Amino acid sequence: MSSVTIQPVNSSHPELGALVQNIDLAHLSEEDFQVLRNTLYTHNVVCIKSQGKLTPKNQAELTRRFDPEAMTYGHGTTIDAKRSILHPDLKTIPYQPEVQVIGNGFVPEYEGLTDIKLRHPHHRTFHKTVIPDELDLDYTRFYRWHIDAALYGKLNPPLVTSLLAVKVPKNRRQTLLYDDGTGDTLDVPLGTTAFVSGYNMFDNLSLEQKEFVLTSKIEYAPHPYVWISTTKSRPDGLGMVSEGKEVPLEDLPPIERESDIQILPMVWRNPVTGRFALQIHPSVVRKIHLKDGSVIDDLAKVRDIVHGLQRPGIAPKFVYAHDWEEGDLVLFNNHGVLHSVVGAFAENEVRLFRQCNLAASRPPCGPQYPEVVA
Ligand SMILES: [Fe+2]
Repeated sequence: MSSVTIQPVNSSHPELGALVQNIDLAHLSEEDFQVLRNTLYTHNVVCIKSQGKLTPKNQAELTRRFDPEAMTYGHGTTIDAKRSILHPDLKTIPYQPEVQVIGNGFVPEYEGLTDIKLRHPHHRTFHKTVIPDELDLDYTRFYRWHIDAALYGKLNPPLVTSLLAVKVPKNRRQTLLYDDGTGDTLDVPLGTTAFVSGYNMFDNLSLEQKEFVLTSKIEYAPHPYVWISTTKSRPDGLGMVSEGKEVPLEDLPPIERESDIQILPMVWRNPVTGRFALQIHPSVVRKIHLKDGSVIDDLAKVRDIVHGLQRPGIAPKFVYAHDWEEGDLVLFNNHGVLHSVVGAFAENEVRLFRQCNLAASRPPCGPQYPEVVA
C-alpha cells in the first residue's frame, strides 16, 4: 500500500491544488507514481514540500515519467529566436536542456550557468496600459495567462510542467488588479503563480457555448511568440489588444510546412477523470475553425470570442494563487489549467526557480462530439 497522503488546498475547489506528502520523488516506486499521477489529474496543481535537494536530472526524470515518449523541452529551440517574447525569460541548464532556470536578479553561479541575470516578467513590458510606478510595490496584475506550449511545428503542448522554487525572496503581499472595468481585485502573495481550471471554465459555459467550443477549433499563429512580439496585452493578461500591430507574416521566420501551423481543439479531455477543459492559449490565437468548415479570421473578433469564453473562469473566486516557499515542487496539468506569472520584484530580490516540461508524445485529446453537451 502506498503511504502517500493527499490534502486538497481548498475544500470548496478541490479540483485546483493539493498538497502531496510522504513521497520520495527521487526514488519513486511505480505504485507511488500512479498515486501521484491520479492526484495530478484530479487536483491539477500539486505541491510537494521540501524538495530543494532534487537535482535537475531528478526533475527531468520525474517530468518525463508522465510521458515517457515525450520529446525534448516543450519549446524545443524556438525560444532562441531573439525576437520571441519568451527569449529573455528562460536560461537553459547546459547539462540538462529540458530544465530551464527562471527568476529574478543576479545569480553568480548555478548548475553550470554563470553570471545569470534573471528577470521576473513585469506587466509593464507586456500590457497596453500599466499600473503607475508609484503604486508598483503594492499593486500588480496577471502578467499573461497561458498554456506552456510552442503551438507551432511538431511540438505538442507538454502534458505536465514542474516548477521547483530554489530561492524565494522574503514574502509580502500585493493587490492584484484586473483593471478591466469590473473592479475585480485579488489579494496575492508576492510572486505567486496563479492557476485557473480549464474544467471549471468549461463547466460554467452556457449550453450554446459548450456546443460551440466542443465543435470549433483554434488556429494558432505561425511562430506565435514572434508574431505577437510587437503587440500588447489586455490588462487582465487574457489575450492581446487588437491594433493591427502583429508582425506581418512575411516578416516572420519562414513557414517550412503548412502543417507546422497548429489547429487544436478548444476542449481537451482529462485522461483520468474524463472531464473537459476549455484550453485555449489566448495570446496567440489567430483563427477559429467552425463545425461547418467555415473560418472566422477577423482577428479582433476571434480574440473577443475567446476572451468572452475565458474571462468568467479567471474571476477572483476561481483563482488558486500558490504561495511559494523554498523547496516547493509544483506539478501542474498543462492540458487542464491556465497559469500566469504575477508580481513585481525589486532588482535586489533574488528569486531562482527551475522549470521543466517536455513536448508531448501526442497532441491534446479533444472531445468526441456529440458525447457531452449536458
Ligand atoms: Fe508557463
